[in-house]
Amino acid sequence: MSDTTGLLARLHEMQRADVPVHGGRTLAYVYDSGLADADEVGRAAVAAYAGSNGLDPTAFPSLLAMENELVGRACDLLDAPAGAVGTITSGGTESVLLAVQTARDAHPEITRPQMVVPTTIHAAFHKAAHYFGVEAVVVDVGPDFRAQPELMAAAITDRTVLVAVSAPSYAHGVVDPVVEVAAAASARGVRCHVDACIGGWVLPYAALLGRDVPPWTFAVDGVTSISVDLHKYGYAPKGTSVLLHRSPELRRPQFFASADWPGYTMLNTTLQSTKSGGPLAGAWAVLNAIGDSGYLELTRVVLDGVDRLAAGIEAMAPLSVVAPPDSTLVAFATDDSCDVFTITDAMTRAGWHVQPQLSYRGGRPTIHLSLSAATAPLVGEFLAALGDAVDQAVAAGPITIDPDVAAFVTSLDPSALSDDDFDGLLAAVGMAGGSESGTVGLPDSMADINALLDLAGPPLREALLVAFLDRLTRPVRHGS
Ligand SMILES: Cc1ncc(COP(=O)(O)O)c(C=O)c1O
Repeated sequence: MSDTTGLLARLHEMQRADVPVHGGRTLAYVYDSGLADADEVGRAAVAAYAGSNGLDPTAFPSLLAMENELVGRACDLLDAPAGAVGTITSGGTESVLLAVQTARDAHPEITRPQMVVPTTIHAAFHKAAHYFGVEAVVVDVGPDFRAQPELMAAAITDRTVLVAVSAPSYAHGVVDPVVEVAAAASARGVRCHVDACIGGWVLPYAALLGRDVPPWTFAVDGVTSISVDLHKYGYAPKGTSVLLHRSPELRRPQFFASADWPGYTMLNTTLQSTKSGGPLAGAWAVLNAIGDSGYLELTRVVLDGVDRLAAGIEAMAPLSVVAPPDSTLVAFATDDSCDVFTITDAMTRAGWHVQPQLSYRGGRPTIHLSLSAATAPLVGEFLAALGDAVDQAVAAGPITIDPDVAAFVTSLDPSALSDDDFDGLLAAVGMAGGSESGTVGLPDSMADINALLDLAGPPLREALLVAFLDRLTRPVRHGS
């Protein structure tokens, strides 16, 4: 047995390499309420339930009670009718996967199912398409980055099992026209899912605060399911999302049972079977600690921060916010005088973590900011750092890529590349650490790499990053 105090110290030491989870300076990946007591009770609840197993609610009735309570709160918040039901999943992607799988399995007679989604739908839907063999019919958004209901309606066919929209979209932070899209889906007898994974715990409170929130909840006719993550703006520890269905009938194909083996009858509501009770208990504790009035106040604080943030960004000459934010997400682009990728690196050096988004379908690359309540008081500091970063980026000028390299990159067919080719390419773009075991290290600077990836189309980006990830994830062996 090792010295356990020493192990914890080592964990904390290793954690120093990560982006900070608290402090409000990380504007993607983490959501920080800034409420130390809520964080603490959440962590204690995760620890208390780390060994409990959500596989069997009859063996762990406390987990069932917590799940039903959390789903009930989500139903209340999202205007669900009596009879609505839901499930706690491990996160937004699992909620989306299950929404798509459920829609597909509700129609066993459709042999080549499709779902209609706007270009701005979260990539989790493409993952669901890939996993479950449901073709994603991707429809252009309008100049305001919102789904276009007429085009969505026109894309519905006899093979459509699901139509999905976002409230709001991750990349641009705007709410799709849910009323019109849900009506079009309902007119064809098709399910309509609203992906509110990132905004679902903010928008209802924003509406209560008197903000102008377009309708998107179960109050909208034709909305059949909604996903909302507790580990985002519920400010709960990582590992919980809620997937709601308007009725038990709509949810039924989500459940899986198998008695066709000699062991226990496997009976699951989610993709996971054995699952830690920790995240559920953590979410239960945090939601009860913060409470409705707490979320209202956190939403007021964060949206006030968003207003100041968006105005401050707009006031910087080379920058423009791509769409007025409907919620807590802000995306901005630069003009030709500088590059978002240089700005991102300069922000990292200054201790702020922002997320670059590569150009897509002719749009400019952008920087994504998910604002947390803990960041709102720091918006002035953030804008000062951003101003410095922009000055540095303008002084450096936009990243230029040798035209021969650019021509080479854009001509590559990822499906024709071998592992050796990928090794060479990763080394050429600075994504190979050159260690003897064929693994790669994490690059210090990302600007040039991002600029090159930006030139590549989505298939090459995906292939290069998968090759990178493959080389990154290699075991540390102590044996020979
Ligand atoms: C709108 C939306 N849907 C789905 C997801 C996927 O959630 P997760 O990363 O929890 O799997 C996200 C994540 O940011 C999101 O913003």
